[in-house]
Amino acid sequence: MRFLVSALTMLVFLLSVPAANAAPIKIKFSHVVAVNTPKGQMADKFKALVEERLAGKVVVEVFPNAQLFGDNKVLEALALGDVQLAAPSLSKFQKYTKSLQIFDLPFLFNDISAVDKFMATDAGKKLLHATEKKGLLGLGFLHNGMKQLSASSPLTVPEDAAGMKFRIMTSDVLAAQFQAVKASPQKKPFSEVFTLLQTKAIDGQENTWSNIFSKKFFEVQEHITHSDHGYLGYMVVTSTEFWSGLPDDIRGEVQKALAEAIAFGNQVANEKAVGDKKAIMDSGRSKIIELSADQRGQWVDAMKPVWKKFEGDIGKDLIDAALAANK
Ligand code: LMR
Repeated sequence: MRFLVSALTMLVFLLSVPAANAAPIKIKFSHVVAVNTPKGQMADKFKALVEERLAGKVVVEVFPNAQLFGDNKVLEALALGDVQLAAPSLSKFQKYTKSLQIFDLPFLFNDISAVDKFMATDAGKKLLHATEKKGLLGLGFLHNGMKQLSASSPLTVPEDAAGMKFRIMTSDVLAAQFQAVKASPQKKPFSEVFTLLQTKAIDGQENTWSNIFSKKFFEVQEHITHSDHGYLGYMVVTSTEFWSGLPDDIRGEVQKALAEAIAFGNQVANEKAVGDKKAIMDSGRSKIIELSADQRGQWVDAMKPVWKKFEGDIGKDLIDAALAANK
């Protein structure tokens, strides 16, 4: 009898303590860019906020520079539960949804504030759910900036790009964009771009000032055209399974920390769009080409027909909603 009482007491004790002694929830956050970038800074800020507010309950491990997974693998890793957060560029979701391809359409958004305005509309917010049926949930959008063209020879008018090989992200819209100027698009992972440029396996690429600077592309590209021809941003994404399995209070705190980290990352993005361009100019390693209105107009005319080609996939209403944000 005494044995039974002590066994029962022990059982009651064990049932009452597991929460206190439970191992902290681990969030692995994998990304491909350098630490000193909008996404790198956002991820580190998120870790700091979560570990301060949920000390002992949640730990965040950040893996930058494609240390753990490249962008083309990270979405599969999320689904398998090998990582819990990632923020691939919007161009890398093509296998999961067609609607996010809207962000790749060349010359669609005039600037980042137009992108912000569009993302805040109902149509924009709905895009966070575009991959949900495939088990991936968008938790927020983050900016990097407007893309520029870099190459081994000067790109002033579209004809200059003809016959050149450009690395692109895994997006058919971006492929069509380069085909529209008779160039040859090459889908390659971000982690390979520097070597491809250095060895001249490709002639050019498109990216933001921040990525061109932090990954040293400017050291192996003699010319950068300030084209602002497209937008580069990210969807912070988790698996629906991981997200719905979190206790409500923890999920709420994590979401709040993420929103604050994204706001911080967007601020970093604004600063880097100016600061990293200046750093590249100051380095004297690449020449920056500023286009005249007429030259830029020629790029617009050459690339804009791409919209029509993808209108069916993306949806005309969504494109119209994005265009309305330019006003
Ligand atoms: C690229 O592949 O060029 C970018 O998506 C990298 C990044 O995450 O900014």
